[in-house]
Amino acid sequence: MSPVGGRCDNQRVSDVSIYDRIGEEGFERFVKAFYRRIPEDDILGPMYPAHDLVGAEERLRDFLIFRFGGPGRYIEQRGHPRLRMRHARFAVDKAARDRWMELMTAALEEAELPEDASKELREFFDGVATFLINRDPSASPFQFHG
Ligand code: HEM
Repeated sequence: MSPVGGRCDNQRVSDVSIYDRIGEEGFERFVKAFYRRIPEDDILGPMYPAHDLVGAEERLRDFLIFRFGGPGRYIEQRGHPRLRMRHARFAVDKAARDRWMELMTAALEEAELPEDASKELREFFDGVATFLINRDPSASPFQFHG
């Protein structure tokens, strides 16, 4: 439900923020399902901090809550997201990107969110994940070894 009241009949679903549609609990559910898959993953497992997966889960969840219309806890605690910069120290190649999407798609399915919210989130992740690729074996060798 929107904080300014109910949804008008002629208002498109996409005008109501995803936060208003699925709430804290919805974000918690799929981000938890995503991080449950991380430790055993052969590509992503070694990249994430084994000692601080709970913190990592909280950072992604709060970022998404902020990005999709909820409270700004992420910004208050972490500042501007600068996602490309924050991912620069991880080797995000196409294989890592595709695996990340695979785990996130499975997590979204497991969370059984409303189909429209799930689809919007998947499309957003798809675009950002591609944007975050920072290693390309077919491009500059400096970048590849960097
Ligand atoms: C493309 C594949 C991706 C890989 C391999 C990857 C990997 C990582 C790793 C290893 C971390 C550090 C975990 C931590 O301690 O917080 C991280 C953090 C984070 N990632 Fe990703 N990520 C990917 C895609 C994405 C996407 C698509 C998003 C958002 C749409 C995202 C959002 C974030 C955020 C918000 C953080 C926390 C940044 C901070 O405040 O420090 N990542 N990612």
